[in-house]
Amino acid sequence: MNSSATIAASPHRDGDAGDRALARIFSAYTASATLWLVFATLVGVVLALKFAYPELLSGSPALTFGRLRPIHTNGTFYAWASPALIGLALYIAARSSGARLYSPKLAWVTLGLVNLAAIAGTVSLALGLNDGDQEYREWLGWIRVVLALGLVTAVWNLLATVARREGKDIYLSNWYTIGGTLWTIIIVVVALLPWYQHGLGQVAVQGYYMHNAVGMWFTPLSLGVFYYALPKLMNRPIYSYSLGIFAFWTNLAFYPLLGAHHFLFSPLPWWLQTTAIVCSVAMLVPVWGGSANFLLTMRGRPERMRRTPAAFILVGVLGYLLGSTQGTVEAFRSLQRVWHLTNFTVGHSHLTMYGFVTFAIWGGIYALLPRATGKEPNNLLMGVHFWLATVGVLIYVLALSIGGTVQGLDWIRGAPFIESVTDMAPYWLWRSIGGLLMFVSHLVFAWNVWTMTYRRARTPAPSIAPAPAGA
Ligand code: HEM
Repeated sequence: MNSSATIAASPHRDGDAGDRALARIFSAYTASATLWLVFATLVGVVLALKFAYPELLSGSPALTFGRLRPIHTNGTFYAWASPALIGLALYIAARSSGARLYSPKLAWVTLGLVNLAAIAGTVSLALGLNDGDQEYREWLGWIRVVLALGLVTAVWNLLATVARREGKDIYLSNWYTIGGTLWTIIIVVVALLPWYQHGLGQVAVQGYYMHNAVGMWFTPLSLGVFYYALPKLMNRPIYSYSLGIFAFWTNLAFYPLLGAHHFLFSPLPWWLQTTAIVCSVAMLVPVWGGSANFLLTMRGRPERMRRTPAAFILVGVLGYLLGSTQGTVEAFRSLQRVWHLTNFTVGHSHLTMYGFVTFAIWGGIYALLPRATGKEPNNLLMGVHFWLATVGVLIYVLALSIGGTVQGLDWIRGAPFIESVTDMAPYWLWRSIGGLLMFVSHLVFAWNVWTMTYRRARTPAPSIAPAPAGA
């Protein structure tokens, strides 16, 4: 493995045919993912408004809460965050290895498969066709197989690209992205096994699947983006390469067994629940270690932190630190007694999937896409995107964290259920306001993506920051 200083020495190949193909792929993944972000979060806004105005859009079965919710969750997971992260991972694999992408054709096949699955999954859910109520795997079985094929082709391309690297060592980002993609194949296969679709086996596998989709897929790929983009933006190596490796292995050691913390007080064996709690606490090691590594890389560079891509990454790192630490705290039985099944958990999922993963993607795209295409976004519009999204998610998470606690305490004291509903009403309204701000920020982001990709450049644009080398 190399030091992160070595990455700065890899050759910059802008201008040759391989680079142009890579830039086209990176642009297409980002554009496709962005369209899905806009669609899936428009659905999210409708869902949020339905809490405040339950009669809203209730005319057609396709627009009911039960159908729209999985359209939103699967859409944000598999059509927004996943292809956006794969596009970033392919770009990073090629650049950090100083090699051409193994197969641009295969990259197009991956994008086609993911989009095919996303379109088929969305349409079938709207028609009421699904594979049951297990979260994040509601798409029909054959659609999930198409998605899994997309994943396999992405792993193949990533591995073969890194195998072409110039030096002997594999850059830290690629450890995370390759590790993440390989672990995810195991998770996807386990979730498809027919003998785990019933009874307690299903509960155990669901805990494993749903939490590892976050911890062994979105998390390592997002961390891979931090480890590549931060040294570029700060113009210095990552603070500690060894700490990054330590966090990688401890993430692998503790994450796989913590999923059962979603099913505390269920009929799952007590020892399995306790193991999940112990692993949830142990996760503080990679989370705090990794976050310290990122924050220490940013220290003492206020002039660079003021640049918007770095600000996105800073929020992403704080989202990772706070969201994951909150997850540890939520796993304690005494606290889960209050928060289990309340809206507090929805606040937690948006702090992590939005405050961490989505901000990491935005930071990576703003930091790297202009280097690939040579087209800069408008600085003011990047700032507008940043502030609308940051304020929006803050309102969203605070409203549901406070509201969810009130809701849980109502249930504990045995208040009539309807009292907990009326108590939540103002918090649901605030969540809609935060969600609207987030959605408007996505429209601004979509414009910025257009500017960085397919919009005809009026004047040749300089790159965001002087590339340390080997962008
Ligand atoms: C405009 C932005 C967004 C809005 C307004 C929004 C709104 C919502 C709403 C209303 C729900 C249903 C909550 C419930 O069942 O009580 C939900 C669930 C969910 N959303 Fe979003 N969302 C947004 C963005 C995102 C993004 C970008 C992601 C992921 C990358 C995401 C991931 C999820 C997840 C994982 C759930 C399930 C939550 C749980 O059960 O804990 N959302 N969202």
